[in-house]
Amino acid sequence: MISAFVLLLCSLSAFISYQTWHILVRRHKSYQDGCEPPTRLPGIDPIFGLDFFFESLRLQRSDRILATINSRFQKYGRTYELRALGSPVIFTIEPENARAVFSTNENHWGVAPLRASAMTFLGRGIITVDGDEWKRARNLVKPNFTKSNVMNFAPIESRLTELFENIQSGQQIDLQSSFLRLYMDFGAEWVFDETFSHADMKVFEADFDNCLSGSGLRLALGPFAFLVPKTNWLKSRDVVRSLANKYIEQALCSISPEKSQTQGRLSFPRYLADKAISRPEAIDQVLNLSIANMATTAIHLSNCLFILSRRPDIWQLLQAEVAALPNFTFDSLRTLKAMRNLLLEALRLYPIFPNLSRVALCDTTLPTGGGPLGTSPIFVPAGTKIVPSQMSMGRDERIWGPDAAQVRLDRWDEGDLERRAWHFMPFGYGTRACLGQQKSNMEVSYILARMVTRFERIESRDAREWVGRMRVTTRNANGCLVALYKKEGVGDAAVADA
Ligand code: HEM
Repeated sequence: MISAFVLLLCSLSAFISYQTWHILVRRHKSYQDGCEPPTRLPGIDPIFGLDFFFESLRLQRSDRILATINSRFQKYGRTYELRALGSPVIFTIEPENARAVFSTNENHWGVAPLRASAMTFLGRGIITVDGDEWKRARNLVKPNFTKSNVMNFAPIESRLTELFENIQSGQQIDLQSSFLRLYMDFGAEWVFDETFSHADMKVFEADFDNCLSGSGLRLALGPFAFLVPKTNWLKSRDVVRSLANKYIEQALCSISPEKSQTQGRLSFPRYLADKAISRPEAIDQVLNLSIANMATTAIHLSNCLFILSRRPDIWQLLQAEVAALPNFTFDSLRTLKAMRNLLLEALRLYPIFPNLSRVALCDTTLPTGGGPLGTSPIFVPAGTKIVPSQMSMGRDERIWGPDAAQVRLDRWDEGDLERRAWHFMPFGYGTRACLGQQKSNMEVSYILARMVTRFERIESRDAREWVGRMRVTTRNANGCLVALYKKEGVGDAAVADA
């Protein structure tokens, strides 16, 4: 008993000595080469940062973390630092810093230290690894994004027709839940090239969601993730991985290697098998692609509808624009200007990834944000987490003007978009940029085009503001509560070519 206590005491004092030494070395380096440290948030515990850690957990649980990060920028400036669980975390809305992280010094930054252990249900794939392992994963995943693989609206259309049939005119519905469910089903079919049975989908949906929530919490806890009870989470992880295995097996049985060469559309499980990828790795790769696919487009779509339910003028604008189309194809949908601008406004105000974080893999620098004026370069020791806040950049009045908080479609027709590149990166930037951007944009446009054609109007049934619930992706904590009113004499199925 005593020796355990002595061991604990020794470990604690070794940790404190290491942290103090680290802070002193860092302070020294912070002032070399013109570098100055950024504003440090005043806290009670300067070594472990336990106060900030517990506060961010509380804020995350009550869905107030994004609003707090935003208000700290107002109070402490455009770049600030705090210490959480013994490691520095830098928050920034300086475009120059975003450029350094995602472009100029891209190789100095990674995601694996953040994600690999927090998202074990995904294994090692494109979302969770860095370096050569990531390059290999990206090469394996990329063939899914050929035109023929992403240009097919038919599988969405059948599910959309069913959803429309179930919508009663004027009755309240949560479109966020409806589209998350639709996308789970459609997303699984797209990734596995197999349709899940109804019973399996129900289980997959619940356990996948449990894995996402558990991973969100573990991402927030960082090195202390081991403190969270695991039993439930591990059970969900095993269920998700075993269902993934089942449907990979099923896909391999139903598509022979010869058929996969001729059918036009890529079957990802068959492709991985043809490349001699082992089954455990194939499960990792399909689940990494699934997480990127399943809870992104559905939330974006729901955010667009959240805006539309409060802006009948934009709904009517879309109706007029869509009515002029001869059919709903990739090429025709691409020409819709108001549609494009609505999608951009929704991503600006309600980004799916509001904090696109990275960890410094080596000692590096940021070009600006240090010193009392917030303009000096900053020395960044390896292990520092950086949070370029997409949410706060999207609402920054210095970039978007005094009406930054409002939805205004024609802001996207003014000036050059290039100038805003580093303020607005909803799909990431650089070599790790999103592979599914075009697929997602086209699907959201298609579904919205179908909705404005089928429904006369949409009404909000919720006076509350949008509240970001940040887990792995960020959705509206209140859902998207609306009522839709059907047009007389229009059927639920597509009225034009899909
Ligand atoms: C509105 C919808 C979407 C948004 C806002 C979005 C956003 C992003 C962002 C910000 C990243 C970069 C992450 C980082 O740098 O750490 C990313 C990566 C990725 N996205 Fe998306 N995404 C969306 C939809 C999709 C869809 C539908 C798919 C697949 C069908 C997809 C596949 C991927 C993949 C595979 C990556 C990893 C790229 C890499 O690391 O090389 N995304 N996405």
